[in-house]
Amino acid sequence: MFQRFRRTRLNTHLRSLVRETSVSVNDFIYPLFVRSGEKIKTEVSSMPGVFQMSIDEVLKECEELKKLGLYSIILFGIPDVKDSIGSDSLCEHGIIAKAIRAIKEAHPEMFVVTDLCFCEYTDHGHCGIIDEKNQTVNNDATLKISAQQAIVHAKAGADMIAPSGMMDGIITTLREALDGAGYENLPIMSYSTKFASGYYGPFREVAESTPSFGDRASYQMDPANRREAIAESISDEAQGADILMVKPALAYLDIVREIKDATSLPMAVYNVSGEYAMIKFAGMQGLIDYDRVVMETMVSFKRAGADIIISYHAKEVAKMLQK
Ligand code: PBG
Ligand code: ZN
Repeated sequence: MFQRFRRTRLNTHLRSLVRETSVSVNDFIYPLFVRSGEKIKTEVSSMPGVFQMSIDEVLKECEELKKLGLYSIILFGIPDVKDSIGSDSLCEHGIIAKAIRAIKEAHPEMFVVTDLCFCEYTDHGHCGIIDEKNQTVNNDATLKISAQQAIVHAKAGADMIAPSGMMDGIITTLREALDGAGYENLPIMSYSTKFASGYYGPFREVAESTPSFGDRASYQMDPANRREAIAESISDEAQGADILMVKPALAYLDIVREIKDATSLPMAVYNVSGEYAMIKFAGMQGLIDYDRVVMETMVSFKRAGADIIISYHAKEVAKMLQK
């Protein structure tokens, strides 16, 4: 049989017809950091273009997001008062509960995801209750108050709950609590495979959540472990998670692909603060073609198997796609 070794060069039109991966504005969830007060919009020095905002500013921001076609946000709260158990997050008058209510009232079409954790709300900055004896997070005590926090979010009108603390058994706990309170159809997006990562540095500045002692290695994953990474997500699928996640994204795309192939749930990636900052500052220095690198990065997430991209670049990407 005749075999032609030279491949036909495709023109631009045909290249776009056969392109295997696409990025759409519908793929994105945009993170927002909410604090109390009025008319507050403070840029984070380590993440140009990212702000801490008071609720009134968040409402204005939602207006802008809608114009860009972005209808999904994930909320992080920065409370006025932090204590050992993160009381602000357990109270219906806490910052997150207030923010959810205000957003759903002013912008009912926005899909509001809530990050469920304690590190932003505790004075020690860890993702749960500290066991005084062992000076580490007490998993089971944290599960109990996590269920409480989930109900606070649900009552306030959250559209999806995203537990990010990597506590064992969190999905079972939240599912039972939500079902028991009549929220059977409130979905859970699990930060199922979350690595102990240096890439979270800038986030801890925005969220003011740097641990006051120790690190998160006892509950977050070792970056060197592949089999464990997959097992963590499989476990959360079995516990009833609706969406799985790999975080950070860029250094872990092999893991995204493997989890995608090993499970049947939709997958999210969290393109974290340090990843954003690296590209941002390189772009500001004129070292790279910023827009091009951002798009190439987003395509890599989709190609690896992500269905959802949580990214601080979401607004910029939406603008690029409009062009
Ligand atoms: C809190 C949380 C973190 C991020 C999202 N939720 C930080 C952490 O675990 O220290 C990181 C997000 C980012 O870096 O953009 N559990
Ligand atoms: Zn946390």
